[in-house]
Amino acid sequence: MDNTQPKISKDKELIAPMFDSIAWRYDFLNHLLSLGIDRLWRKRAIAMIPQDFREPRIIDVATGTGDFAIAAMKVHPCKVCGIDISEKMLELGRRKVIDKGLDRTISFINCESENICLEDNSFDIALSAFGVRNFSDPVKGLSEMNRVLRHGGMIIILEFSKPVASPFRQIYSFYFRNILPLAGRLFSRDRKAYRYLNESVMEFPEGEEFIGLMTEAGFVKSTQTSVSWGIASIYSGFKE
Ligand SMILES: C[S@@+](CC[C@H](N)C(=O)[O-])C[C@H]1O[C@@H](n2cnc3c(N)ncnc32)[C@H](O)[C@@H]1O
Repeated sequence: MDNTQPKISKDKELIAPMFDSIAWRYDFLNHLLSLGIDRLWRKRAIAMIPQDFREPRIIDVATGTGDFAIAAMKVHPCKVCGIDISEKMLELGRRKVIDKGLDRTISFINCESENICLEDNSFDIALSAFGVRNFSDPVKGLSEMNRVLRHGGMIIILEFSKPVASPFRQIYSFYFRNILPLAGRLFSRDRKAYRYLNESVMEFPEGEEFIGLMTEAGFVKSTQTSVSWGIASIYSGFKE
């Protein structure tokens, strides 16, 4: 099956308004529906950055309200640039960063992952959390992340995956199909967005298949680290 071509529409003209409409509830629902574990996953992903990346220049693709960009402050970056296509998500990110006094280091740009409006070889680390599965063309997005990285630069992708072991597989499947869309609908008043979340996770390539996409985009030494019984995965790789 060719998983690089999504069955559900990932057209920017549909995706950006969808995230605009749930932006006001996004952080609250993210932490509620994951029981706060999403914060630990981002921390764990950032902890994978080797210490020899000193004061790195970081790009956070599909940054949303900026939580991954903020978590990246742990490695003392000289700058973090978050990009996203949802202006409402970015607005919340900008406000959050100002409140935390981080606006000299973290900035946000409205720009799509498949066509990143930044120079070649201009970052040391490229991040994306729960973003790639929304891209209309994941290989194009990953290739763009490769283009803006310098040689030897690192990519870190955090995404949902599907646990294989019982009983986690069954519990996860029930939760994702039933509880999550219901809670999303109740709290964000957006039925479509949380049904989309379930569908986009179910059809997203994972494991070796996703590593294949990273290779296609030009990354080497790619690895997958499963977290929380396989509910999420952290992929990392390097630009040659
Ligand atoms: C589930 S949110 C993840 C936000 C954030 N990275 C986090 O960790 O919470 C997905 C984000 O991807 C953005 N997005 C979707 N497709 C995109 C694209 N093609 N280019 C850039 N951003 C995109 C959405 O606007 C949304 O803010």
